[in-house]
Amino acid sequence: MSVSFIDSELQSIKDAGLYRRLRRVDSDQDATLTLDGRAVINFSSNNYLGIANHPALAAAAKAAIDRYGCGAGASRLISGNMALHEELETKLAEFKGTPAALVFNSGFQANTGILSTLAGDGDVIFSDALNHASIIDGCRLSRAKTQVYSHCDLGQLELQLKDAPSSARKLIVTETIFSMDGDQAPLTDIVELAEKFDAMVMVDEAHATGIFGATGAGIVAKLGLSERVAIQMGTLGKALGGFGAYVAGSAALRDLLINRCRSFIFTTSLPPAVMAMALAAIDLVKKEPERREALWRNCRQLKQGLNQLGFEPGASESPILPLIIGDAGKCMKFSEQLLANGVFAQGIRPPTVPPGTSRLRITLMATHTAAQIERALKVFEEVKAQT
Ligand SMILES: Cc1ncc(COP(=O)(O)O)c(C=O)c1O
Repeated sequence: MSVSFIDSELQSIKDAGLYRRLRRVDSDQDATLTLDGRAVINFSSNNYLGIANHPALAAAAKAAIDRYGCGAGASRLISGNMALHEELETKLAEFKGTPAALVFNSGFQANTGILSTLAGDGDVIFSDALNHASIIDGCRLSRAKTQVYSHCDLGQLELQLKDAPSSARKLIVTETIFSMDGDQAPLTDIVELAEKFDAMVMVDEAHATGIFGATGAGIVAKLGLSERVAIQMGTLGKALGGFGAYVAGSAALRDLLINRCRSFIFTTSLPPAVMAMALAAIDLVKKEPERREALWRNCRQLKQGLNQLGFEPGASESPILPLIIGDAGKCMKFSEQLLANGVFAQGIRPPTVPPGTSRLRITLMATHTAAQIERALKVFEEVKAQT
């Protein structure tokens, strides 16, 4: 079969101004990067606490390799369930305040797998309009009817819940901190609605784990909802600085996923070094609240500075500050001009965000210095004046 469609597909992506290319990093991951050969200040990472290059994580990974070797060799249900996988799950459950937890190879695999295990034909999933692509794909894969409610619109969610057939299993799924807008879901109200209509709640804490709550356990823990949110998914590759994902909940949930969840069953398990990194990261996150304090201090400094320059970083309640530009072309040009001046703030276009809402997605880290933020604000001011 001819593959000439590949060229025409690429051309149509280019014609729409949506072509993407990979940028290359030649340094470790921190507040500064060597990007495509140049030193830049990094405002485009989910490494919110700045621990992706922490010596404690590196030492734990090295020790795990020395003791257990590199690969896990098989899936968890065959011979790939190593001591460190179980140790991490016990620690995650304790961290999240749940009876059990299960590790997944990535957040994407967790969301597609969990949703398609818990809902099926005849069921209804209620999904926030701004939920992540992995949640959208999980809804599709489940074959359940998906009711998308407008972003954080609880009135619409309630109407949809009322309309659902009483025989259907009902599942509400939402991010707690939205990845592209940085705002927070009204979780307590969502839980109350769920209880009123006998629906399950699943949250995605990818952008909350590590940075919210007294010990960094996330928004569910911060709001005291651990016993009322049945399915708490999160990732290990963002604020926890490593790789992988988890779901925290009941022992029965863990057991069902082990038995039914295809993205858990049919994949080689994560290497021991990755488990060891996550174990070290949780310890660090719990015992160093000063990292969260530094992160929030940096957020305040950047937000204030951007406001003074006349930018409006939206309703963000997190280290994710979206500067909405609207037009995709203008957004990418703004981002390129910042980069030319040593500031990396990635432009985000459709399909990652809805058409007409292209934005610079600025993310802060605990390890940014006040001087780096000042420097970035100066560059924002200069680029704004040129556009
Ligand atoms: C909200 C959300 N959920 C899930 C994922 C997927 O997680 P992972 O990168 O571990 O696949 C991401 C980002 O990558 C995300 O932003």
